[in-house]
Amino acid sequence: MAGQVKQTSDAGWEISILNRAKDIIRDGSDELKGESVFAVLLSAIEKSGAKVRDRGFVAHSELVELLRDQVGPFAHTRKSLKKDDLIEILDKCIDVQKNEPRKTPNMPRPNPVETPPTDQPSLTPLANLKRFDEKRFDSEFNALVSDNKGEQALSLLIDVFPKLLGGNMNRKEKLKHLTFAGRRLQNLDLGKYGVGKLKNKARIVNLVIDRYGIPDNGTFVDFGCGAHEPLALSTYFYANQFDKCVANDFLPIRSPEYAALSMYDIVTYMLMFPEEFLSKGSKPSDLIGRLKEIDLKKLREGDFAGGFEALKGKVDFLSCDIVDSELAPSSVSMLVSFAVFEHVMDIPAVTKYLYDITADGGVNHHFIDLADHRAYRHDGVFNEFSFLTEEAAAPNLNRLRMHEHLAAFESAGFEILATDGNRKAIPETTFNSILPRWADLPQDELETYSMSVTLRKS
Ligand SMILES: C[S@@+](CC[C@H](N)C(=O)[O-])C[C@H]1O[C@@H](n2cnc3c(N)ncnc32)[C@H](O)[C@@H]1O
Repeated sequence: MAGQVKQTSDAGWEISILNRAKDIIRDGSDELKGESVFAVLLSAIEKSGAKVRDRGFVAHSELVELLRDQVGPFAHTRKSLKKDDLIEILDKCIDVQKNEPRKTPNMPRPNPVETPPTDQPSLTPLANLKRFDEKRFDSEFNALVSDNKGEQALSLLIDVFPKLLGGNMNRKEKLKHLTFAGRRLQNLDLGKYGVGKLKNKARIVNLVIDRYGIPDNGTFVDFGCGAHEPLALSTYFYANQFDKCVANDFLPIRSPEYAALSMYDIVTYMLMFPEEFLSKGSKPSDLIGRLKEIDLKKLREGDFAGGFEALKGKVDFLSCDIVDSELAPSSVSMLVSFAVFEHVMDIPAVTKYLYDITADGGVNHHFIDLADHRAYRHDGVFNEFSFLTEEAAAPNLNRLRMHEHLAAFESAGFEILATDGNRKAIPETTFNSILPRWADLPQDELETYSMSVTLRKS
């Protein structure tokens, strides 16, 4: 009987529609009358929704998708299924809805008198749903991004992507998520590319230049610029009146196509908002003039080398060990590195080389990430200090502590202008297992997980 709406909660509203549709099928004819199974069931759902509100009702896309999934191979079957088969399909829809509730926010809601609310079923976490729920993903992902909870938003994205990619959504809708979810996170400076990351680094370098001053006409060097977006910082300082900028890394560019597209974004943004990218004394018109030398069309097409062709000799990427970069002695007025020195294996050779290429009065600024990089997997297995408990060195990390880095710069001849360290408590189980070679260090030295140092060649 197509009677009472047996809704128990707001989230169960879809279930009440499906139950009513079962009643409609039961009350109807036993034959499909030439219509497809899908059409018959959809019509029952439409009627069910309309009956509740006494007006036309178009089943919300979640319900339609739920139905389509359960009808599956029978979608186009005509006259071969009986009432019981149709009811069985609706029962399956109800089971799925109970386990993986899909909310239909714009659906007409029942009159509260007809449907007294009781217990709310708790919402299954998105990651545990069997299929991709676009509306929930959009609202949960965007809420996390808006709250600046980038790591959590990234985790959600990683959990949900396999379902999105494997589901039956239109391919271009999938592409939309692939394109824009990543870009939203990049804007939180989470990625390997982007304007935000560049701005943070440039702000630090500008502070150092303003505070300590540097010689005129020297080269700017971004040592260990990285394999992802090697020219971003060098382009910034070229646009801010360094006539020669060098980005160096012994890794080749990981993906010139991605780097090109990212530089396209960065340069177009800089052209639009030049005042956000000025070092002290630079003028927007000069910055714009220099950026216009970059071929944006080529960058947009993914042609990294082509985009920077006109800047050869002004902004260069040197892919080699820094000690082989053949920079002229005493030619560098400002050299920076971000998260590089923890990876340098021959510290004496590199610090000596940096000293040799730095001009008299020239400045170096290094941010050094002293943490165990396995902590960035965020899997709870490793923390920033885990490698202090292991005999074998983590690959690519020298595990030097802050005082050792400082001693190396001093013995190369640099004057230390400023240092800073970030500290946090070492988790107890790690602290209790620190190996003898570190165990006697002062606690604040052990707890320092990142540092920066500013140096001058006097
Ligand atoms: C963690 S990445 C940092 C990349 C970039 N600076 C950033 O902030 O994203 C460290 C980089 O330093 C580079 N590197 C380490 N030692 C180097 C050396 N001796 N010469 C050139 N590059 C080096 C590595 O290849 C790596 O790309």
